[in-house]
Amino acid sequence: MMITLRQLLDYAAEHDFGVPAFNINNMEQGLAIMRAADRTNSPVILQASRGARAYAGDLILQHLIKGLAEMYPHIPLCMHQDHGNSLTTCETALDYGFTSVMMDGSLEEDGATPASYDYNAGITAKVAAMAHARGASIEGELGVLGSLETGQGDKEDGHGADGVLSEEQLLTDPDEAVRFVKETSVDALAIAMGTSHGAYKFTRQPDGDILAMHVIEAIHAKLPNTHLVMHGSSSVPQELQEIFNEFGGEMKQTYGVPLAEIERGIRSGVRKVNIDTDCRLAMAGAIRKVAQTSKSEFDLRKFMKPASEAMEALCVDRFERFGTAGHAGKIAPLPLSEMATRYQSGSLAPSIHN
Ligand code: G3H
Ligand code: 13P
Ligand code: ZN
Repeated sequence: MMITLRQLLDYAAEHDFGVPAFNINNMEQGLAIMRAADRTNSPVILQASRGARAYAGDLILQHLIKGLAEMYPHIPLCMHQDHGNSLTTCETALDYGFTSVMMDGSLEEDGATPASYDYNAGITAKVAAMAHARGASIEGELGVLGSLETGQGDKEDGHGADGVLSEEQLLTDPDEAVRFVKETSVDALAIAMGTSHGAYKFTRQPDGDILAMHVIEAIHAKLPNTHLVMHGSSSVPQELQEIFNEFGGEMKQTYGVPLAEIERGIRSGVRKVNIDTDCRLAMAGAIRKVAQTSKSEFDLRKFMKPASEAMEALCVDRFERFGTAGHAGKIAPLPLSEMATRYQSGSLAPSIHN
């Protein structure tokens, strides 16, 4: 059953757990996540970037989601647009059956220029009105993702801020967060506190100087009823780096977000935890292993099955670590029409009301 992000995160907040949001681009990733959810009885957030939509095609993604929802009717499934850059991107996602969108107005529409507060709040409020009228949810972002070690925005996966960013841009300001949530009516707020997309987040095991978890805690203190979102939250596990390198990969030593820090975030209002890189790394390592150890193999299924299984194992672990496991069967998803009525009547409290 499809569910909105808002309903799922309201439930997660009530029961003090976090939900991993896994990026998908293809069937193997979709099946890996749903199998993991089925094994652990977890509700699911699948998200597609603009790149994923271009790669798979909107129609294929629409039918894939529909198929996965039908295969696993007991798993509440939220389909979310990751890093939407415009009203049109978000609107077309909803047209294709997504139940939630992210309007990332921290950057301008080019996805590279850090935006002003006014631009961000203005476009996010507009997208929120459009999404809520359809009963769908919206995530906004305040603060620019990037490294506190280098001041660089994350360009690794082809999008992210240009140039060197100031600490002020890289760390979400708690008072501005209150103003932003009030002015935009977002259902969830992504914040910046030193994480970035991709494998190369930190050059050493992160401490509070480069992974500013205290920012989350300060924001949660001011916005206790707002669902917070951590982007760039892959842990880039050492063992996955080793498998990747053992079978011919060339990844230099790197560090991600420790799971213990994510768990700390979940205790401070983080409800959605974005993970893409770990899934890519798990699958790429498994594919490399087959390529290196079975050199005559050319049946693609022999590559994709272990790859999908490696991703499934990772997803099971995250569902268990974040406390998502065990909750799928306890949620009764509301249809979009009912959510729209609730937004309209004001019975769904804006997340600013504490
Ligand atoms: O937003 C970052 C995600 O890892 C998606 O990356 O744009 O390469 O699909 P992508
Ligand atoms: P990672 O690159 O850390 O997996 O982050 C993914 C993400 O934030 C997608 O929006
Ligand atoms: Zn992200």
